[in-house]
Formats: sequence, structure tokens, C-alpha cells
Amino acid sequence: MFPIQRPRRNRRTEALRRLCREVVLTTNDLVLPMFAVPGRGVRREVPSMPTICHLSVDEIIVEAGRAAELGIPAVLLFGIPEGKDPQGSEAWSASGAVQRAVGAIKSACPDLCVMTDVCLCEYTDHGHCGLVEGGEVVNDASLELLARAAVSHAEAGADVVAPSDMMDGRVDAIRAALDDAGFTYVAILSYAAKYASAYYGPFREAADSAPQFGDRRGYQMDPANRREALREVALDIQEGADMVMVKPALAYLDVLSDVAAESPVPVAAYNVSGEFAMVKAAAARGWIDERRVTMETLTAIKRAGADFILTYHALDAAQWLREGD
Ligand code: PBG
Ligand code: ZN
Repeated sequence: MFPIQRPRRNRRTEALRRLCREVVLTTNDLVLPMFAVPGRGVRREVPSMPTICHLSVDEIIVEAGRAAELGIPAVLLFGIPEGKDPQGSEAWSASGAVQRAVGAIKSACPDLCVMTDVCLCEYTDHGHCGLVEGGEVVNDASLELLARAAVSHAEAGADVVAPSDMMDGRVDAIRAALDDAGFTYVAILSYAAKYASAYYGPFREAADSAPQFGDRRGYQMDPANRREALREVALDIQEGADMVMVKPALAYLDVLSDVAAESPVPVAAYNVSGEFAMVKAAAARGWIDERRVTMETLTAIKRAGADFILTYHALDAAQWLREGD
């Protein structure tokens, strides 16, 4: 008891603080999400996500090169199609923006790990993550289409495919399809505990993927549920997920902590678009210190149990880590 116990002694100097630090964020923890679009010479900033751009293939290799040069191990690709239809058929087109971007990045930066988001919502005219029949998002009929998209990413050279649709059984369907096509070495990062969150708002503007009717609460998780995340994670691991994700990150650190305590496979957290936009907006007004808030946020996500973090701050954070934070 005080005055014997004085926790401040361990915080007195920077050297002591460095010795006693429990969690250290490194560039190895970061994955940079990017938006691939058709065309050439396109570098168009997403209004609600300052510094994040729609990139054509020629520009995406420039951005991937920056990430690789800074030591970021991986990127995650989303695609914007030329056109949308009810099935989202451009999702598995060999000449789609994502498929071409994967090939170009693997040629330009062979050591960079390329992950691809597997979903239909960017590609369907109704904006839902699966097939719609009679006003409902149907589960089983969606699986084959998701598997087709995943195989097309593997054919393009993706190292990791990341299904974000939240259909039941999609990890199993994708694993089987990848193996049938000879891609036994391609890993699956499952968006296992993905919540129906308002924090995806800026992303839906960026990906033009807002549902045209209804919402995603029939397939994404209820934000009120904690225990259910462990069920989703356990099922996805049984189905063959190599890594699992909790998404969003900040409002779900309790879930992340639970999953990290139980999961036998690596756990990712997605620091989503709305979390990023709030930091950027407040920083632009001079209301917060962007660098310190960003590093504190990413450290907190790691402290809660993330093995790696998908974040739009990745390039900035890697630069700050290089400078010495
Ligand atoms: C597609 C998908 C979404 C995100 C990642 N993949 C949006 C959604 O489910 O509506 C969100 C990413 C972000 O907000 O940064 N299913
Ligand atoms: Zn989707």
C-alpha cells in the first residue's frame, strides 16, 4: 500500500517506460485497404476518406509500391466494376479491376501479400452482399457466386481471399472451390464477426455499395451481441478459415478481446471507414492531434488482441513508425 507502492516509479523516464511497455505497434501489424477502379491514370480521392483514392491499375501499383517500401506486409483490394447487375457478375470477371490489380501488384511487388475482399455488394445493382429473390437475400444460392469470385482472385494471383458477405457456409464453399481449382495454398481470411454497423458509411460511398432497399441486418451481426461472435468464429474455423476478423474494431474491442482469447488462428481487426473518417474530420478542424490519436487507436486495437489491423491509416502509421514514434 501507499507510500510503499508507487506505480509512477516505472513511468519516471522514457527508458523506464520503454522497458515496461506491454504492447508495441509495428509496421508488421498493418494492412492497407485499396480501391481498384477501371481505367487509366485514375487517382480520385474519396470525399469522406481524405488521402484514400479510387485507383486505376497503373496507380494502384504506385500505391502498393509505397506500402511495400515502407515495410507494410499486405494490402487488401476492393473493386469498383464498370457495370452492375442482379448477380454481380463482374465480381468474377478475369478482366475486372481487382483481378487486373492483383496481377499487376504481384508483378511489381512480388513480396507484398495481396488480399482480396470477396463480396457481391459492389457488383450487384441492388447493393446486397448476396443474391436477392423475392425481396430476400438468399443464402445458399449466393455461395456458388462468392466461390466463383474467390477462385477468380486466386487465378489472378491473390495470396489471401477475404469473404465479407456474412452468408452461412461461405468459408466451406470457398475452400472447396479453391481446392477443386488447385489453389490449396490460398488462405482464407474470414470476416467472421462482422457487425451491421453504421461505421461503414464512408466505405459505401467509396464503393458505391449501399443497399438499394432494406439493410444488412438479416446477415451481418447485431451490434448488441457479444457471445455470438465466438459462434461465428468457431464455425468459420471449422469450415477452414485460416484467419478470422472482427469488424469494426473500436466499438467492438470487447469482442476482439474475447475472440483473441479463444481463437487458435490469427485474429485481424478492421479499423473501418467511419472510424477513419472521424479522426480525419476532427484533425482537419484542429480538434485532435491526428498522429497521436491514430497511434493510440492502433495500439489499443493491438492491445485488445489483434494480430494485424486493416486500416486506412496504414501508410501514415508506417511513416510515423519509421520516423520513430
Ligand atoms: C463489403 C464490405 C464492407 C466493408 C468491407 N467489405 C461494407 C459493408 O459490409 O457494408 C466495410 C469497410 C469499411 O467500412 O471500411 N461487404
Ligand atoms: Zn458486401
